[in-house]
Amino acid sequence: MIPTIIVHGGAKTITDDKVAANHAGCTAAAEAGWAVLLGGGTASEAVEAAIRILEADQTFNAGLGATLNSDGEVELDAAIMEGSLCWGAIAAVQGVRHPISVARKIMDDKPRLLVARGGERFAVDCGAEMCKKENLIAEEQWEQWKEDQEVIDRPNTVGCVVLDGSGVLAAGTSTGGTTKQQSGRVGDTALVGCGLYADNKIGGCSTTGDGESIIPVVLAKTAIDFLAGDRHPDEAAQMAIDALVSKVKGEAGCILIDDQGRVGWAYNSQHMAVAYMNAEMDKIAAFTKK
Ligand code: GLY
Repeated sequence: MIPTIIVHGGAKTITDDKVAANHAGCTAAAEAGWAVLLGGGTASEAVEAAIRILEADQTFNAGLGATLNSDGEVELDAAIMEGSLCWGAIAAVQGVRHPISVARKIMDDKPRLLVARGGERFAVDCGAEMCKKENLIAEEQWEQWKEDQEVIDRPNTVGCVVLDGSGVLAAGTSTGGTTKQQSGRVGDTALVGCGLYADNKIGGCSTTGDGESIIPVVLAKTAIDFLAGDRHPDEAAQMAIDALVSKVKGEAGCILIDDQGRVGWAYNSQHMAVAYMNAEMDKIAAFTKK
C-alpha cells in the first residue's frame, strides 16, 4: 500500500473570486498532513494536522469563519475515525478554535460524542485552544448574516482521509453546519457512517453536503460498502452520490481512499475543492472542479 492523503474543502459553488483561495487552502492542508506522514506520524495525526489548516482558513466553513447560525453565532461539529473502528466527535460547541483536535482527544475516552457545554468543558479539560465565541466570527460572515444576503459558496464541511505507511486509515470532518441553521442543529459531520468512516480492511471516506440528506443514506458507510469487490474509489464515490440523489435528493460530495491507497471523489454540487498526494507523486494535485 502507498501512503496517501486527500482533503476536501466542501461540496459547494465556488465563485471565480474564491477559486484561488480554495485551491491554496486545500493544498496547504494536504501539505501539512503530508509533512506529518513524512515525519513518521500516524494517519489520525495527519488528518488532524490537515483539518486544523482548514479550520484556521476563513475560506472554509469550519473553525474561524464558519457560517453563522440563526442566532448569529458560530457552532461547530467535528469528528475523526480510525480504521480500527475507534472514533471521537464533538458537536454544537462554541469558542473552540480546532474542534478536530478535541474530537481526536475524545477518541481515547468514553463517551465518544459530546455536545454543546459538555463538549466545551471536555475541550477546556484536555487543554484545547479556546477563545471567546465571537472570535470565530469572520467579518464577511457577519456582514452576510446581518444583511440576509444569499450565501452561495459556504454550505458545509471540510474533510480529510489518510492512509499511513503502516496501512492504517483515518478520516475526519469539521464544519459550522448550514447557514442560519437553528441553534442546536447537528448534521452528518459528527456522525460515524454519515460524515465519515474508516475501516483498515476496506477504505476511508469523508463526506460533505446537506446533512439532512447524508444522514438517512449513511453516505460515508455507503461509499465504503461500494468499494467491495476491488471497485475503484472514483466509481464507488460516484455510486454513493447517485444513491443519495435517487433516494433523498440533496447536494453532497465525498472523498475516498481504499486500502491500497487509491483515491477517488465525486460530488453533485457545482464544485468541490480537492487536493491529494501520495508517495509516488512529486507534488500535490489540487482541483476545484473534476
Ligand atoms: N454537512 C454539514 C452539515 O449538514 O451540517
